[in-house]
Amino acid sequence: MSRYAYVNGQFKQARNAVTHIEDRGYQFADGIYEVCTIVNGRYCDFDGHFARMQRSLRELRISPPIGRAALELKIRELLKRNKLRTALVYIQVTRGVAPRNHLFPISGTPPVLVMTARRFNLEESDAKARKGVKLASQDDIRWGRVDIKTVGLLPNVLAKQAAAEAGAAEALLVRDRVVTECSASNAWIVDKAGTLITHPKGNSILGGITRETTIACAAELHIKVEERAFTLEEAKAAGEAFYTSATSFVMPVIKIDDVTIADGQPGPVAMRLREAYKAKVCSA
Ligand code: PDD
Repeated sequence: MSRYAYVNGQFKQARNAVTHIEDRGYQFADGIYEVCTIVNGRYCDFDGHFARMQRSLRELRISPPIGRAALELKIRELLKRNKLRTALVYIQVTRGVAPRNHLFPISGTPPVLVMTARRFNLEESDAKARKGVKLASQDDIRWGRVDIKTVGLLPNVLAKQAAAEAGAAEALLVRDRVVTECSASNAWIVDKAGTLITHPKGNSILGGITRETTIACAAELHIKVEERAFTLEEAKAAGEAFYTSATSFVMPVIKIDDVTIADGQPGPVAMRLREAYKAKVCSA
């Protein structure tokens, strides 16, 4: 089956879906993105993803290329053309196409919206969660505004690649001994008293939409949450660890570097939260 992408207002077969060589996303990483999951036709946490997309655009002073209703229609059409009901949708907006110049292009230059979709295998993700995954710590060398979901992801790419080469599923990013987040997800630990701990929002982490919903799930389950900095040593000595993202939901961690977390099995709190998250966000 040929895959379809949305580019510059049109649906095109993926192999013919191209953007200009002077797209500012390509030359300057001057753009933002969102990734959201759709399970059996249901948009998971779409309000949050749309709101964050608007915020990222505002922070970079890129004008929104499309309103919410129109965006949802385009996503539905993209899924239909790709015959997908359970999918990951990638949405990218760049400042547009203009002769290369660090300054913003002249006003009225239209932003470029690109969307792709691919199958999301929930069963595979559940199987991975039942086994748990490993993390490898890496220096967090990113810029000072990682709260904006920009396409400038080179430090994340390098960290994740190094983690993969160390046999880990994700990179745990550490700055000044403090765990900020992971290369493409938010990091959490559970202390011995059963309290969830995750880095507070601010400029040094991406405020994950899954993170917010996980906090809401924890409140419903009467699990205490502390939004505070924690160290790599604390993470290695934790009762449990996990990460959250739109593509992983709640993913239990069983090892960080060469240290096994607790008994080396996915933790019960993480597994409860994963089920609660799925029930809240993905069920019909
Ligand atoms: N990544 N932190 C970073 C650095 C991320 O890139 C992501 C998401 C998150 C979690 O955000 P959310 O819960 O809204 O997905 C945290 C996406 C999935 C990606 O880059 O593919």
